[in-house]
Amino acid sequence: MKIVVSVGGSVLARALSPEKFKSYAAALLELSKKNTLFIVTGGGQAARDYIGVARELGSDEATCDLIGIQLTRLNARLLIAALGEAAYHEPPLNYTEAKNASTSGKIVVMGGVSPGHTTDAVSAILAEYVGADLLINATSIDGVYTSDPKKNKGAKKFDALTPKQLIEIVMKTEMVAGANSPIDLLAAKIIERSNIRTIVLNGESPGNIIDAVKGRHAGTVIETKKKSSKKDKDDTGKDTCNLGYFSTEGCDY
Ligand code: UTP
Repeated sequence: MKIVVSVGGSVLARALSPEKFKSYAAALLELSKKNTLFIVTGGGQAARDYIGVARELGSDEATCDLIGIQLTRLNARLLIAALGEAAYHEPPLNYTEAKNASTSGKIVVMGGVSPGHTTDAVSAILAEYVGADLLINATSIDGVYTSDPKKNKGAKKFDALTPKQLIEIVMKTEMVAGANSPIDLLAAKIIERSNIRTIVLNGESPGNIIDAVKGRHAGTVIETKKKSSKKDKDDTGKDTCNLGYFSTEGCDY
């Protein structure tokens, strides 16, 4: 399989340590035995800190983004260091470079590409461009919820969504100030237009990525609706929010 994995800076480098990069490298080496891998690393807290200082110094938003991109590439370089010879030696700067780099047969690791979006979108565009069979978004929460579970205890997790439903949820979530959507809107739209099978999962443990590739995961899968024989209902007979495929109408945002 050809797989693109987006690893949030928030999981890879929350507290910068060699151990996290080593454990990710071990899992990716295991996966690379049978799969072609492209990894996109996020910037995490360090990117936010640098962007915050740049903003205070009067930098425009595009400049802040360019600074964020540099941080994502630093994390890519650390992961390349942890992977050693198994990784392509440089983070590609764009999608064509990434595709070319993969002809080396090595794991390709890259960060951001251009201002105006996040590495979620980079990984979705890369998955589209290289014709990936699977996109995995390894993030700091274990799936897509009806609202931010870190702020709302009543938030419910979706086991599965269609790309259209994902867009609805991301749009509703992003309308709330300070809300943190596990996938950004551009990424959701790319996933929809190319119908890229996507799994959003908790990346704290890199073993979750191996499990997802083997078909076992506790995250949220995004794929086109399949015919389901059993529809999940609550006591009132309405579709429930946290199971299977259903309308997102009435969910708790
Ligand atoms: P991230 O994609 O890492 O953002 O890029 P994030 O939402 O903070 O993700 P986590 O926490 O790592 O999961 C960091 C910043 O870099 C800029 C944006 O400013 C983004 O917020 N960036 C990144 C771009 O402008 N373009 C890119 O292609 C990637």
